[in-house]
Amino acid sequence: MSDLRNFINALPKAELHLHLEGSLEPEMMMHLATRNNIELPYQSVDEIKDAYNFSNLQDFLDIYYQGMNVLQTEQDFYDLTFAYLKKVADEGVVHVEVFYDPQGHTSRGVAFSTVTNGILHALDDGLEKLGVSSELIMSFLRHLSEEEAFATLEEAKPWFDGRIVAVGLDSSEMGHPPSKFERVFEAARDLDLKLVAHAGEEGPAEYVREAIELLKIDRLDHGNRTIEDADLTQKLAQSGIAFTVCPLSNLKLCGVMDMKEHPLRKMMDAGLKVTVNSDDPAYFGGYMTANFLSVAEALALNKDDIALLCRNSIEGSFLTDKEKQQHLDRIDNIASSHK
Ligand code: ADE
Ligand code: ZN
Repeated sequence: MSDLRNFINALPKAELHLHLEGSLEPEMMMHLATRNNIELPYQSVDEIKDAYNFSNLQDFLDIYYQGMNVLQTEQDFYDLTFAYLKKVADEGVVHVEVFYDPQGHTSRGVAFSTVTNGILHALDDGLEKLGVSSELIMSFLRHLSEEEAFATLEEAKPWFDGRIVAVGLDSSEMGHPPSKFERVFEAARDLDLKLVAHAGEEGPAEYVREAIELLKIDRLDHGNRTIEDADLTQKLAQSGIAFTVCPLSNLKLCGVMDMKEHPLRKMMDAGLKVTVNSDDPAYFGGYMTANFLSVAEALALNKDDIALLCRNSIEGSFLTDKEKQQHLDRIDNIASSHK
């Protein structure tokens, strides 16, 4: 297994599905609570970890929104983001496209600029000091209204000069179909932003179809339930759209009860461009390498499968064709030297 771990870590790869607020480790949560004089409902790191017992997405989201209360200053957002980048840099991640939830912060009185500038400063340092390139994706909270999403899009406009490159859609999926945000996504597209959306995590394949056909997304987040619809699966395999799959998240939120039941292998066999990601690693028990190892072990993935997943992450990113080719060439070199 350590041979496989070394192989995974050696391969250049991109992380395309990571909520920065979901990388808030219990230790940092305690530290920031003290620094900002915020009262937590937990007395210790162990108590925080004990609370991470989820039966579904909503159980998790309730704790995730509570956890983000400790994030108050630009420095907090910097520290959060840079700590994440340091972790993944050690795992061979060369590029990240990360989400954040501005509405989770502006609703608590933390300014959009405080949040965004803290994150961007850390992303700049990530490139300079760690060699990890990045893009920033602003997600709309789908349990909030279309009107609130439009207000957030408006507020973010000063950062659409290349600093925020895409919009996403996350939070409680059931009852909040992609169709609710069709007009917001159309407006974002008119601003030349890239578009991604969570769909088919808990919601049905029909939500995936809506995300593709109504929101016209460039990349699909999760998408596990796509394979329940053979026609849609075939269409998405042909289109080559990337799926950002998050194995440990699916296990922890009870999308699968055992990793051996995870649909990742079936999705790959159906010709879908699958990538492996960590979603909210501080809550779900692991970063990129842990996610790769968990599916590799449970589904008996071999080195060719792993190299393909890494290739897919580069191809599915928003990097330029030239940048993609450089990373793909390195993957090929490393994969052939590990045969
Ligand atoms: N926000 C943070 N993580 C999420 C997930 N896995 N699904 C939906 N919204 C999220
Ligand atoms: Zn997610």
